[in-house]
Amino acid sequence: MKKYLLFTPGPVNVASNVRTAIAKEDICHREADFDYLLQSIEQKLLQLFEIRNTADYRAVVITGSGTAANESMLSSVVGEQNILILTNGEFGERLYNTSKIHNKNTFLLDFGWGNKINTSEVETYLKENKIDVIAMVHHETSSGMLNSLYDIGTLSKANGSILIVDGVSSAGAEVIDMEQNHIAFFSSSSSKAIGSYSGLSFVIGRKEEFEKLKSYPEKSTYLNLYKFYHFISTVSQTPNTPATHLFFALEQALINILDEGISNRYASIKYKASLLRRGMLKCGLTFLIKEKEMCSMLTTVNIPAHIDVTQFRHRLREKSIIIYEGKGCFRGKVFQVGNIGELTHVDIQFFIDSLKDVLASFIPKISVVVPNTNALRKGVNSHKESLTGTVLGVADGEI
Ligand SMILES: Cc1ncc(COP(=O)(O)O)c(C=O)c1O
Repeated sequence: MKKYLLFTPGPVNVASNVRTAIAKEDICHREADFDYLLQSIEQKLLQLFEIRNTADYRAVVITGSGTAANESMLSSVVGEQNILILTNGEFGERLYNTSKIHNKNTFLLDFGWGNKINTSEVETYLKENKIDVIAMVHHETSSGMLNSLYDIGTLSKANGSILIVDGVSSAGAEVIDMEQNHIAFFSSSSSKAIGSYSGLSFVIGRKEEFEKLKSYPEKSTYLNLYKFYHFISTVSQTPNTPATHLFFALEQALINILDEGISNRYASIKYKASLLRRGMLKCGLTFLIKEKEMCSMLTTVNIPAHIDVTQFRHRLREKSIIIYEGKGCFRGKVFQVGNIGELTHVDIQFFIDSLKDVLASFIPKISVVVPNTNALRKGVNSHKESLTGTVLGVADGEI
């Protein structure tokens, strides 16, 4: 068995050909070898996103995790204009905090962790305020909620704003139609549903929007999105030294998805999620949000009241299974189970069997009440008396 089974929303267990691709060759990033590699990745990213008018879009690859791609968008596409961040969780809040650093005109609509984005509130806000750029998270990983690109894309277009999307945890797992949903820029990373190692991220954008960035003030040297666009479109390279070996791995991961077939990959992720969800429901567990609101790559599960989530996670870890604990207001209340990467149906069955064992190793907290012996001796047999008896002990929630 593999050392760890990563039932997380990334990092993932990578395919063996991705593992070997990383050690493929030593190349120089200022030579034609790298130019071809970057061109191949860009073309495959546009294929993965099923872009119909490929001549209108470009994809740039950044050495840095998903946050780098998000910061490159937020520091490059706003200029002196107004940006509205829509948030319903941890990663929307991160967009807001990053934007505030770069953009003095950053505004926020906060719907609360685990709640849906209220489209009519967004519509009203856009009517009442001048907003040039809207930013949102597609899959809000902190709750597992998949936000609607269609709803916000439609509002954004009607308002004449541009829409930028953090798709770090949805690309490779969910259909993303940038053209239909009027998305100007979409960011994601190599290490989640795309199935490669962490360390690379990318931004796909409309060419005409990339071109506009040329005249915007430069707010970051390393993460300037226009610079990435300029380098890829003129010399097919990156502005600074890229992690070339990770590029080989990313290329292989994209080949794997395209070979499998994009819709087959989506269907396979959905099926794995349904196996996991059925299994967890059979164990008596419940979910934080409705299944129809979830992204297909992750399930956020309420932890039963008598179980300490950290101990629970450690016990699964002893069985080589890695899961996530909840963050922020969900800390201690939920755990998260991902179903991306090279997890097989056998691994999923192993997870469910292990889950049953681990759940059974915790017992509910119980209070043992001993009747007040004096009262008994006196022949007083009231329910009230027995309730005032001595609490012998409280089990600590485990065997
Ligand atoms: C939606 C979303 N955005 C951004 C990030 C940050 O990505 P990274 O940790 O790769 O920088 C994550 C990470 O889980 C995420 O899920």
